[in-house]
Amino acid sequence: MRIVITAGPTREFLDPVRFISNRSSGRMGYALAIEARERGHEVVLISGPVALPAPVGVRRVPVVSAADLLAAVKAHVPNGDALVMAAAVADWRPAARHPVKLKKNGLARELTLEPTPDILMEIRSLKGPRLYVGFAAETHDLVPEARRKLAAKGLDLIVANDVSRPEAGFDVETNQVTLVTPDGVARELPLMSKRAVAARIVEWIETHRPAGALAGGRAGDALPTLAPDGRLARQLRFICEIDKLKSVNRRTLLMDGSRYENDAEHSWHLAVMALLLAEHANGKTPDIGRVVRMVLVHDLVEIDAGDTYCYDEAAHHDKEDRERRAAERLFAMLPEDQAREFRALWEEFEARETPEAKFAAALDRLQPLMHNYRTGGVVWREHGVRSGKVSDRNRHVGDGSNSLWAFAEALIKDAVEKKFLDP
Ligand code: CTP
Repeated sequence: MRIVITAGPTREFLDPVRFISNRSSGRMGYALAIEARERGHEVVLISGPVALPAPVGVRRVPVVSAADLLAAVKAHVPNGDALVMAAAVADWRPAARHPVKLKKNGLARELTLEPTPDILMEIRSLKGPRLYVGFAAETHDLVPEARRKLAAKGLDLIVANDVSRPEAGFDVETNQVTLVTPDGVARELPLMSKRAVAARIVEWIETHRPAGALAGGRAGDALPTLAPDGRLARQLRFICEIDKLKSVNRRTLLMDGSRYENDAEHSWHLAVMALLLAEHANGKTPDIGRVVRMVLVHDLVEIDAGDTYCYDEAAHHDKEDRERRAAERLFAMLPEDQAREFRALWEEFEARETPEAKFAAALDRLQPLMHNYRTGGVVWREHGVRSGKVSDRNRHVGDGSNSLWAFAEALIKDAVEKKFLDP
């Protein structure tokens, strides 16, 4: 589908430095744009002034005033299958805009205001079969007010939220909304992230798709929307997303030296190693099913965060933050129970505290050591890595398996003797 989304506040200037505006960070509208894009829709995001980065793959149209917003909406709605008005449009503007800054003494004590255009009202005639979704931010009489606006503005859905609640209002990552439809139904959703609210709204749009609208924006992206239910669609979308891991290259050559290995290949190698080497783990044999799940999940975050070379100290200082943000985005694509499961596996691996995580981390270190040895240390030498550093960085192999660490130490010693690695 082609979805037009408005987001953020508008500004109505009195002079070049003073304006009237609404409180709005734009987060809800941006979450909608990101969600819709990830589900394969073509998105135009008409955005008032906000401090958020432009979402990848989304066409962003910047606007400032309600009049600009109206013009942009009128230009894009005819090409869209759905409009979501999440923008917090200022209802009033100064009757006159002064071209130069007014001096303090020249400012009148009272400001003469005039109404801005009501955008949804102005575009009622453009509606046709396309879906119109509005928002109602209220501090009281939430559902009655939402119903009134739904009818007055001729909407298909209105998303009502009580902005007097601290966890559902401005500048926060969460929201709690009620979906109100013309049949009189008001469906209250639990408190959830703005991204999860966005998913519910986009799901609603998908299930009410006007006849003739494409399921997805690009042919290939429509694949998950063919699924019979929302859960399977999310899982399929995730499966398509993680295909990107095959394009994230590591700084390890294949054992035949022909090219760099990618992250997906690395994870697969660790999974097979876990099956084979379980008997070498310290203590009682760890739960190998869990080790396999952990190694398959541990590098997915590198789709966004990229591969951080284990000897690159500079890149390590913000690695945690990059990977945490990636985990948040990526795992949120999954159904909530699986998002929790994947997140927990990823965190368990990172914390390296359980026997399974220690063993998984040992394999994660042992595998590149073997590649470096087999390729004559080309990559070690290229990066000026010396044997002391290799030993230090990989010492925790011993936390997972003493015998594999003994093997790794022998490998490092032999690599030095063979001049694969500088002492
Ligand atoms: N809206 C609009 N044009 C405006 C004001 C609001 O299109 N000038 C849209 C908003 O983007 C939202 C819906 O109308 O989707 C409801 O906005 P809201 O500010 O809650 O409603 P108002 O009609 O302005 O009513 P009031 O301020 O009296 O609550």
